[in-house]
Amino acid sequence: PLKKVKNANLSVPPPQESKGITPFRLNKDKSSVTITVVGASGDLAKKKIFPALFALYYEDCLPEHFTIFGYARSKMTDAELRDMVSKTLTCRIDKRANCGEKMEQFLKRCFYHSGQYDSEANFAELDKKLKEHEAGTIANRLFYLSIPPNIFINAVKSASISASSANGWTRVIVEKPFGRDSESSAALTTALKQYLEEDQIFRIDHYLGKELVENLSVLRFSNLIFEPLWSRQFIRNVQLIFSEDFGTEGRGGYFDNYGIVRDIMQNHLLQILALFAMETPVSLDAEDIRNEKVKVLRSMRPIQLDDVVIGQYKSHTRGGVNYPAYTDDKTVPHNSLTPTFAAAALFIDNARWDGVPFLMKAGKALHDRRTEIRVQFRHVPGNLYKRNFGTNLDHETNELVIRVQPDEAIYLKINNKVPGLGMRLDRSNLNLLYSTRYSGEIPDAYERLLLDAVEGERRLFIRSDELDAAWSLFTPVLKDLEDKKTVPEYYPYGSRGPVGAHYLAAKYKVRWG
Ligand code: NDP
Ligand code: BG6
Repeated sequence: PLKKVKNANLSVPPPQESKGITPFRLNKDKSSVTITVVGASGDLAKKKIFPALFALYYEDCLPEHFTIFGYARSKMTDAELRDMVSKTLTCRIDKRANCGEKMEQFLKRCFYHSGQYDSEANFAELDKKLKEHEAGTIANRLFYLSIPPNIFINAVKSASISASSANGWTRVIVEKPFGRDSESSAALTTALKQYLEEDQIFRIDHYLGKELVENLSVLRFSNLIFEPLWSRQFIRNVQLIFSEDFGTEGRGGYFDNYGIVRDIMQNHLLQILALFAMETPVSLDAEDIRNEKVKVLRSMRPIQLDDVVIGQYKSHTRGGVNYPAYTDDKTVPHNSLTPTFAAAALFIDNARWDGVPFLMKAGKALHDRRTEIRVQFRHVPGNLYKRNFGTNLDHETNELVIRVQPDEAIYLKINNKVPGLGMRLDRSNLNLLYSTRYSGEIPDAYERLLLDAVEGERRLFIRSDELDAAWSLFTPVLKDLEDKKTVPEYYPYGSRGPVGAHYLAAKYKVRWG
């Protein structure tokens, strides 16, 4: 196997390291990059990967010599791939005047090769085609595995044996799920490492590419006012909320094998938690940041079963429209106990966060779509204005809300005097709404992550020890839930979710935001 080809182009200077302060731009040099989307006929490739690649091309972020290959079993010609891809390029870029022209140029750089995922011979054919586009350059290759997890290893094996770069770097982006528990995740890592070095593996968690998640560190470490308050001394609780107003439509088959805890909590929400709670890293270098994230994850208390509530949506009729139950999906067993909703209380047993509940809530088919981080601060000691608030103590504490999506915003709830004679207080927002403050479009998470992978920037990708720590936290409680065949609390499609989540919050004197 060609495992040792990792960054084999030692004579070539490494890609310019970005410290995340300026927009990333590749040096336009003599090297080429080919990006092979393995599983190009699939949903993710169409929905996210090709549009993101086009956006990068449009923004002039891809190197001068780049080529995109789609690879999958489906039979397609280059023209058919281009036709398929062109239908997906409906992103924000469309609004611009020269988009059509750029699209044509982009599509000319897209090619297709049909092959089996476990065939070294088929990947060798791909290799031959890639070489035709790489002639005379240092050939860097990025493979994006956009395929179901059960075929990851076969594809990595065949690609690394037959289609690794001979004189440049070879990197592989791997999509979640990275296993379904500690054991299967470790087995996947071991198998991947038979063919790749750790620094060739880019495990994607697309939430890390979201603008406001990336901004978390800026908010904390680049403003004087937040970091001093960022501890048990001033913070009462932290809430991490993921809510979708649609069900598992079309992905029931995948979802039933994983459930909401593995789909959202163990990765997206836990990654946000780690960035939120980590200590100040030594620098913005990927390893320094990931070292701090691992430390937080390893300081977390094992999750107790009675600190977890699970739910599953049931059908509901509203306004004459019938919304289906999770188990109405033909690809889901009718008696499935898989949770589509979960809430959990987590704790970090270190000096900074001792005793502060981190409440997570994730659900599908709820009443709204949003992802938020809500930080509820403690009461003002001896508050002079207490009687102005009546008995509702919640109304006197500050709350910082980081709205990751939709309508990206950061706002701080403060107590304020209502203008006029007399003394009446209310709660108002100091509001940074991105759409009013910034005119530019916010890039899709996949754009940022793809560019980082091309540039070799690992800050927003998951290292294997982070993954191990994340699974160590969730595996025991998932096993408990599954061994005990815990029945989820049923909630109507489009509702606020199970009442149990409110009892769980109340147990820690918290009210969900
Ligand atoms: P798909 O189910 O659409 O599969 C992608 C391609 O893989 C298919 O077009 C098909 O191509 C091939 N394929 C599918 N099933 C099999 C099989 N059993 N054996 C061999 N080949 C198969 O996946 P998605 O595009 O939805 O997702 C790709 C990866 O990204 C998965 O790991 C998924 O979990 C992950 N992901 C997906 C998200 C999404 O929104 N879709 C979100 C986050 C992660 P062909 O038949 O042409 O070979
Ligand atoms: C994926 C989950 O990782 O994230 C999906 O598998 C979920 O179930 C999706 O819908 C949400 O991503 P986004 O970017 O649309 O919030």
